[in-house]
Amino acid sequence: MSLLLQASGITKLFPGTLALDNVQLDVARGEIHAVVGENGAGKSTLMKILAGVHTADSGQIIFDGEPIAPSSPRDALERGIAIVYQELSLVPPLTVAENIYPGRLPTGPLGFVRYGQLFRQAEEVLRSLDLNVDPRALVSELSIAKQQLVEIAKALSFDTKLLILDEPTSALTEREVEILFSLLRRLAQQGVGILYISHKLDEIFKLSDRVTVLRDGKYVGTVKTAEVRADDIIRMMVGRELGHMFPEKSRVEKQPLLEVRNLRLPGQTAANSFTLHAGEVIGFAGLIGSGRTELARAIFGADGVESGEILLNGQPVTIGSPQEAIRHQIGYLPEDRKAAGLFLDMSVKLNIESANRAAVTSGPYISPRKERALAEQYIEQLNINTSGVEQEVRRLSGGNQQKTLVAKWLAIQPKVFIVDEPTRGVDVGAKSEIHHLLRRLADAGVAVMMISSELPEILGMSDRVLVMHEGAIVAELAAEAASEEIIMQYASGQQPALAR
Ligand SMILES: Nc1ncnc2c1ncn2[C@@H]1O[C@H](COP(=O)(O)OP(=O)(O)OP(=O)(O)O)[C@@H](O)[C@H]1O
Ligand SMILES: [Mg+2]
Repeated sequence: MSLLLQASGITKLFPGTLALDNVQLDVARGEIHAVVGENGAGKSTLMKILAGVHTADSGQIIFDGEPIAPSSPRDALERGIAIVYQELSLVPPLTVAENIYPGRLPTGPLGFVRYGQLFRQAEEVLRSLDLNVDPRALVSELSIAKQQLVEIAKALSFDTKLLILDEPTSALTEREVEILFSLLRRLAQQGVGILYISHKLDEIFKLSDRVTVLRDGKYVGTVKTAEVRADDIIRMMVGRELGHMFPEKSRVEKQPLLEVRNLRLPGQTAANSFTLHAGEVIGFAGLIGSGRTELARAIFGADGVESGEILLNGQPVTIGSPQEAIRHQIGYLPEDRKAAGLFLDMSVKLNIESANRAAVTSGPYISPRKERALAEQYIEQLNINTSGVEQEVRRLSGGNQQKTLVAKWLAIQPKVFIVDEPTRGVDVGAKSEIHHLLRRLADAGVAVMMISSELPEILGMSDRVLVMHEGAIVAELAAEAASEEIIMQYASGQQPALAR
């Protein structure tokens, strides 16, 4: 095995947080090397050091036979280290092609950009990746999944020797994941080293040659994937046994809380009807793009509806805006935490209180004491890993950002809680915490509408499963009657053999 990267003794101290403590990592040419660990373990920080975003306080990096200390992302790229970040980093108002070649657009003698050439180059990169994306399209017009793929195209448009991917599949459909995986395998065959971060252990077993585990900023070990089982890796990650157990489902008689009748969205033909009961977790399954998020956003008043009715406790209500939804104690945890949920530049405290300022006022004034108490309550309840209530959300790890967003919606004390991919990017332990939390809310009488693309999560959590296909609810399954196969058949527009 010829080593491409050898990092040792890497230490990084952020104010108040020792993010990495004497960590080591090596990657061979042509190797796919997974890096795993709980939220806040230091994975992204280590990758950002390799990619020139952060500088290590100490340690040594030998890359391609030479000691290096990348001083900027540009510097790292020029050496052949490219990164696809956990959070999207594209510039939405620009075209796909301009995003792939930022700062290195082909120009003519007078300095004008040669757009023809730019689009041709971009088209070539996109085609080589088997991506059906128009290089002239604006990034703002693309789905998150497509944007993620453009990020990858951007990283690969350089002469890359080491490609780093930080949770790249969280927004991808299964087919897109397959495209990505075959691409990564092809790159590895060509000798590119790949560092792959994911919380999805099944992906790691499918893809990687070796796995390095971090815990609390420390190096735990590196193992050959073929020689271990998932339990072994989980034990290394959390330092104890942890079988993921879904919370027990409840068996109580349920009262209708929110009824949706013949709801039709602009430009759609399907009219959907369903009822959410107090005390129930209802799972919305379907392929990405099947219309689940649109339906959720319509109920939450974020987008307009064409026709139909919504009843809350038997009374018709009009929900014209998210503010009105919040007044009715309807919460919506969006799928894209960065674009639609969090104020990244603001503190954990301000984010948590942002949907319910009334909870932190005393008369006309904001009460600093109540603000702090509210934030501390949720930091503790959700086990948010932060240096304190004043920490900027941007500086939290991805999974802890997600928990902060959950806290924001819990703070409105929702009666109806719509959660869209609630455990995206959270580690195995935190995932279980969020599942138990949702079940506790249901047991306390909340109606939980859970959109998820992870079938085990749908099956493990839901009292009832609704399946959507092309904007329409095509099946309603009792928990006992649902299985991955049946759900997938409905989701892909087929009639399951059983139902015929
Ligand atoms: N820019 C920063 N300033 C201060 N602290 C930071 C900064 N970036 C990360 N941290 C802290 O460093 C620790 C490691 O964070 P990191 O993002 O590397 O975790 P991670 O393993 O990628 O987690 P996740 O799975 O949630 O993405 C966390 O405690 C985090 O709050
Ligand atoms: Mg991370």
